Amino acid sequence: MAHDEIIDHYSALARAADAGRTLTGTAGYDDLEGLPQAAVRAALGCGNPVAVAELRAGETVLDLGSGGGLDVLLSARRVGPEGKAYGVDASADMLALARRNAQQAGAHNAEFLPGTIERLPLQDRSVDVVISNCVINLSSDKAAVLAEAFRVLRPGGRFGVSDVVTAHTTTTEQRTGCAAGALPVGEYRELLAAAGFTGVRITPTTGHDDGTHSAIVQAAKPAAPPHVELRPMRAADAGQVLAVYQAGLDSGHASFETTAPSWEDFTAARLPGLRYVACDTRTGQVLGWVAASPVSSRCVYAGVVEHSIYVHPRHQAQGIGRALLTAFVAASEDAGIWTVQSGVFPENTASLALHQALGFRVVGTRERIGCHHGLWRDVLLIERRSTFRKPHREAP
Ligand SMILES: C[S@@+](CC[C@H](N)C(=O)[O-])C[C@H]1O[C@@H](n2cnc3c(N)ncnc32)[C@H](O)[C@@H]1O
Repeated sequence: MAHDEIIDHYSALARAADAGRTLTGTAGYDDLEGLPQAAVRAALGCGNPVAVAELRAGETVLDLGSGGGLDVLLSARRVGPEGKAYGVDASADMLALARRNAQQAGAHNAEFLPGTIERLPLQDRSVDVVISNCVINLSSDKAAVLAEAFRVLRPGGRFGVSDVVTAHTTTTEQRTGCAAGALPVGEYRELLAAAGFTGVRITPTTGHDDGTHSAIVQAAKPAAPPHVELRPMRAADAGQVLAVYQAGLDSGHASFETTAPSWEDFTAARLPGLRYVACDTRTGQVLGWVAASPVSSRCVYAGVVEHSIYVHPRHQAQGIGRALLTAFVAASEDAGIWTVQSGVFPENTASLALHQALGFRVVGTRERIGCHHGLWRDVLLIERRSTFRKPHREAP
């Protein structure tokens, strides 16, 4: 269905709910007491995202495709008067219904905004939690929806939605109604990772006759120090990434290399899905980056990578390296990587301490392994084994 048809369909349902018809979606809720009957009647969800969002007093929440407003009202209650709950919906009838429900509920901290979930009417880094209930499956541009969710979340913000997903075996013909746009779980994971999310968990809840499942989808935007944001590295970052690289090489303790490579060589050698930059949110300047290369083309080593992490010398000791490495470790585990390794000069004690704090161990010393500016130097081989085993690929 095209976007306009979808919105017309839900606008008609909003009017029906307003006229007294009960729609379908309040299974899984046990805290509806005191909410307007019109909000409960209009529920069209496929789960209860508020129940798993672990909302705290004072937080700002955004509900994508808020419909009659039930999840916004529940969120508003949980975040309290110091917090705020926004709903965004493209249906004017749904917005009108949700606003009446908020007024009846006395929810002064609930606000409903017109807009699409592919282009959210909210500022960058303005919300703590994004929820949604059975809406993302309807979108024909899920990459845009997830990129927007990532944009509006603050660093460390949480994404927790109920949605409909499919098993890999489901054919397009088998997907009807709400499930028409449902993604296979693996594709959902890939889109979340591409948007920059880490810590992805997709938990099936209710199975449906057509082979689809309702599921809770959870992820996080990487945490970062104040005025810093972590996001996936883009080609447009090339100049700044290579400048940070060169500044690190010039310090003399980062690598045997002395000159940063061309962007073509840099990008060809590194895995596309595991690259993050840390940016200053006020200037957009790239302050540091992390990326990884496969160690071997042999499939037995498919989950073993060698990473590099660079923070511009002027911005070290501000928690940026820790934030980058933490995000990288989480993203690598999401991607099924079971070993991350690297070489560190023993003199680079800050890097060693950072890696050890995040679960790396020194495997051994490779004595006088390479010549750097005329000096034969030792390198410590460090590695981190993933802390869990993926069901689809047993780590040795
Ligand atoms: C299945 S209903 C779910 C409503 C609500 N989340 C609930 O649980 O009751 C889908 C809602 O998303 C809205 N919607 C669908 N696609 C949208 C889009 N691309 N942008 C904004 N809203 C959208 C519809 O107008 C409708 O209110």
